[in-house]
Amino acid sequence: MKFIRFSVLAAGVMAALASASAAEIGLTIEAATPGPVISKYVYGQFAEHLGTGIYGGLWVGPESRIPNTRGWRNDVVGALKALRVPLVRWPGGCFADQYHWRDGIGPRAARPVRVNTNWGGVEEYNSVGTHEFFELVEQLGADAYVNGNVGTGSPQEMAEWVEYMTADGKSSLATLRAANGHPAPFKLAFFGIGNEAWGCGGNMSVGHYADEYSRYATFLHPGGGNKTQFIAAGGHDDDTSWSEHLSARLRTGRFDGVSFHYYTSPGPDADGKYGATGFGEAQWISTLSNTRRMDDFITNNAAKMDLHDQHKRLSFAVDEWGTWYDAEAGSRSGFLVQQNSLRDAMVAALNFNIFHAHADRVRMTSIAQMVNVLQAMIRTDGDKMVLTPTYHAFRMYVPFQDATSVPVKLEHNPQYAFGGLAIPAVSASAARGKDGQLYLALVNTNPGERADVAVDVAGGRAGSASGTVLTAAAMDAHNTYAAPAAVKPAPYEARAEGGKLLLKLPPKSIVVVAVR
Ligand code: AHR
Repeated sequence: MKFIRFSVLAAGVMAALASASAAEIGLTIEAATPGPVISKYVYGQFAEHLGTGIYGGLWVGPESRIPNTRGWRNDVVGALKALRVPLVRWPGGCFADQYHWRDGIGPRAARPVRVNTNWGGVEEYNSVGTHEFFELVEQLGADAYVNGNVGTGSPQEMAEWVEYMTADGKSSLATLRAANGHPAPFKLAFFGIGNEAWGCGGNMSVGHYADEYSRYATFLHPGGGNKTQFIAAGGHDDDTSWSEHLSARLRTGRFDGVSFHYYTSPGPDADGKYGATGFGEAQWISTLSNTRRMDDFITNNAAKMDLHDQHKRLSFAVDEWGTWYDAEAGSRSGFLVQQNSLRDAMVAALNFNIFHAHADRVRMTSIAQMVNVLQAMIRTDGDKMVLTPTYHAFRMYVPFQDATSVPVKLEHNPQYAFGGLAIPAVSASAARGKDGQLYLALVNTNPGERADVAVDVAGGRAGSASGTVLTAAAMDAHNTYAAPAAVKPAPYEARAEGGKLLLKLPPKSIVVVAVR
């Protein structure tokens, strides 16, 4: 008995020692050889007419008892402002290809009621239309990414929407916009010509879509000083043919980027479930492993685009990304409601690091979606609101908006392995912020082991690090209305000792620090 006790104790101590003395990972920040700027638009968000993504989650209307400013919820908009949301994509998604902009202007009470056949077959009252959307982006201090309708629209309808939004002078559409309350042209930063043309946007071949794009784009003439960027609806997952074909074919002057969609799912568990919570380590690693595929997808698509666009004029716009799990039990069909856990924050951070590494091509993205839908920043229920772990990841990465990327070199980065899958234990990204500070973001994907990272700045010194860490006891830790702060960032500090700056990353954590 005594012997057994000794053995257990010894094993415990050995394990602790092994963990404490785990080989250090070396990280060098190559501060003297900066890379491209990480566009702030990489931190864009997507808000679609889908479930309570807009109605209820963001828009409650001016008459609501929920405090609002011209219809937009004060609590939600206030929280989003802290993320410095640079861009909002609207109105879809699949919804974009059934949306007719004239339904959403003029007195709200007189607007037509349509059926949202993509998302739950609900009645669409068109309370949020063009003017309301631009009011939202103005409140957020964001730019607009409006997605036009190719699937059920026409070149004329699209051209007139662009004219309505942007024309100055006295054209009838500019006059109508003024009569509807906005004499000045709106700022239209991005305009998408269709969405998922290979699927809900019309089930087209890429060749057919390329012809449609050229036809629609020919008639788009933004006014009001707008330098609108036009985005073609591109491919998804491991299909590079859309990026290749579109960058080869489109010769219009109104073509600034190709979109791309990739959603991360864990792969089913033994019961065929893709739960947002209640999962085990097999689904933890499969989710993180699957989301890392984004790196290859970007590399492969960028290589195709390089063949026809050597100077990288075109942007690869990942305008839908994030996690997609089984819908929450009891939620309405077609509303894409899912819980958001620490795992989602890890997915966000891993993707940010990937986008930074491809900052030369990836100059705009929008996560799906902003509120209540898929991998949301915020969840609401009536007048209640809760911030998700993904919200916190976005907030931690704010210093990377418009920062200059700086290469990092990782040495002795072990693999984190489970159940036949293996991924690098640590993901890292660094940049020189607009404030001149050097920022470092680290993700420890291993849910069971700490990672010790010795940080060095090439040609400089790393004396201290301060910022925040996001972690939790459980892999599926999440925030609820009853416990809204179960997952939230905590302060993180480290100081060099003996000339060495050692950052100890807790298991399953994200650390973002300024290195001085
Ligand atoms: O984000 C939800 C949907 O996913 C979008 O409407 C569509 O573009 C994609 O298939």
